[in-house]
Amino acid sequence: MKTVLVCNWKMNPGTLKEAKELFDATRKAAEKAKNVSVVVAPPSIFISELRARYKGKKIMFAGQSARAEDGGSYTGDISILQVKKSGCDAVLIGHAERRAQGETDDNVQKKVIAALNHGLSPIVCIGESMRGNHGEHFDFIRGQIRAAFSGVPVGKINKVIVAYEPVWAIGAPEPMAPRDMHEMSIFIRKAITECYEMEMKVPRIAPVILYGGAIDVATAGVMMREGEVAGLLVGRASQKKETVSALIAALS
Ligand code: PGA
Repeated sequence: MKTVLVCNWKMNPGTLKEAKELFDATRKAAEKAKNVSVVVAPPSIFISELRARYKGKKIMFAGQSARAEDGGSYTGDISILQVKKSGCDAVLIGHAERRAQGETDDNVQKKVIAALNHGLSPIVCIGESMRGNHGEHFDFIRGQIRAAFSGVPVGKINKVIVAYEPVWAIGAPEPMAPRDMHEMSIFIRKAITECYEMEMKVPRIAPVILYGGAIDVATAGVMMREGEVAGLLVGRASQKKETVSALIAALS
């Protein structure tokens, strides 16, 4: 299976010209990397233009956030339907930086359903803000998973991509230890399975699990080897031409 790399540009870069340059660097690296599947999540204002000038198939586009409603009076927001119509294949849902601004588990649940209904892959971000000594974070993660999967029909379980991003590792100097991610991947799979305990026929649950938080060229390889993940969701290291090229080359 190909390694998934989601490039979360967040509110960068400043201009369309710079966005085109960053995209071109990403594209060039991606075209050389046979085993890497690259998803770029630019600021929504740049998506249409970048999408229109890209004719290849190697890179997929994602929205960074969008509302479940198809339209309405929501000043400043965009809809999942608009993300789809602008040429995206996926949408990030429940990123920690959105949850910090008030996005709830209930919002996440509605967005996952809307994304699936519009044929977009939901990339659901989950992660605890801190860890205590008694494994409380596992209960917290279980709660986020239950919310995200409630209403997802059995046949669509494997279409939901789960990005585990401990909030304390986002923007931090170092990522989580890969062995802890390994443990978390097993837990996430189990927690998803538990959501479907009452169903008669559950297919083999094989969710795509990503890790995110402080990954760069130095840490990507070991996280892929030891973290039991299908790929990475990367912020800072995806936002500069040099670092994204190096990161993609390292992953291939
Ligand atoms: P970071 O961000 O790679 O800059 O830590 C990750 C994220 O927020 O998705």
